[in-house]
Amino acid sequence: MKIVSIVGARPQFIKAALVSRELRKAHQEILVHTGQHYDAGLSQVFFDELDIPEPAYNLGVGSDTHGKQTGKMMPAIEAVLVKEGPDMVLVYGDTNSTLAGAVTATKLGLPVAHVEAGPRMFDKSVPEEVNRVLTDHISSLLFAPTQTAVDNLNREGISRGVYLTGDVMLDSFLYFSEMAARKSRILSDLRLRKKQYLLVTVHRARNTDNRDNLESIVTALSSLEERIVFPLHPRTRKYLELYGQYDRLAASASISLIPPVGYLDSIVLARNASKVLTDSGGLQKEAYFSGVPCITIDEATSWPETLAGGWNTLAGARKQDIITAVRCLEPSGKQTAVFGDGNASQKIGSYLTP
Ligand code: UD1
Ligand code: UDP
Repeated sequence: MKIVSIVGARPQFIKAALVSRELRKAHQEILVHTGQHYDAGLSQVFFDELDIPEPAYNLGVGSDTHGKQTGKMMPAIEAVLVKEGPDMVLVYGDTNSTLAGAVTATKLGLPVAHVEAGPRMFDKSVPEEVNRVLTDHISSLLFAPTQTAVDNLNREGISRGVYLTGDVMLDSFLYFSEMAARKSRILSDLRLRKKQYLLVTVHRARNTDNRDNLESIVTALSSLEERIVFPLHPRTRKYLELYGQYDRLAASASISLIPPVGYLDSIVLARNASKVLTDSGGLQKEAYFSGVPCITIDEATSWPETLAGGWNTLAGARKQDIITAVRCLEPSGKQTAVFGDGNASQKIGSYLTP
């Protein structure tokens, strides 16, 4: 089969790394990068580190409002699909690139395969939720990472074409962990001692663009005594500066504000942290894979499996809840194999038969 795969944002490169290898064993893959993420630290670093093939097309869409960004992607994707005439279009996750790819393919009558179908936050004010729900409802093949995701799809009346594959982020995590441990210098560069620091990431719109929430998070972090490493998404840096919060954080000797890191550094930071504080879906899962307790800086999670056994807790952006969770969160159960066995990419490959 000829398959056009569409990626555009950081977590999609990580998800595509092993799926792309699998596809290329049996199919012709045309990789399309929408250009949603374009800074080297959010894009090229992943292609280099994870040995992802260079995209055949980079649509160079860049940043904009949701409507304009998604809108700009569609004619550019359409032109590629018309030119290439694929048998199928494959999209990942829940970004604007996912939605643009799925809608454009569907309107051309092309079947869509969705990797990471079915997670739900049950909150349509979250842009990613809208992207996920709409994409799932127009996909022909839905590769669900967990049984919860399958159940969510079934409740929405989607059962045809649904396959429980496990999570491709677990595949990448397992596959690249040894390489990360060997190559990453991040712990020594930042003088971090294993299990003696907190890893923090924040980038969700409702935390960054909302002044009250961002201030509350900054107040919580500034009042903690623990050593903190905080790789800053450019969106977060922009709003920290805009709302006068950057200098407050930077003033703290125990907090390292650093540019976004590559995947190898990221998983080394996650695995060796005492706790992870994040609003990232991917990092919530990676904390769980690592056996590191996670404090989610959000009101809901699309990964409720991580809440079982106390491995994750929802603190929102509330400063006292964040501080209390840092002091008190103590998982009591064991993690289970809810995200599969690390072979999701292979399973996806096996379901993509002509
Ligand atoms: C996007 C996804 C989100 C995903 C995240 C991964 C949507 C709606 N959101 O959020 O689901 O979790 O990617 O990191 O698709 N910027 C740069 N350089 C870049 C890219 C972005 O400086 O290379 C800045 C721009 O100011 C831009 C802002 O970050 O306006 C937000 O970028 P955007 O791609 O719109 O959304 P993310 O917050 O990255
Ligand atoms: N990540 C990374 N560098 C960073 C922060 C995160 O490589 O500076 C990785 C992280 O390990 C995970 C993925 O990016 O694999 C998560 O992406 P992100 O948080 O941007 O998006 P989300 O998962 O919330 O959609």
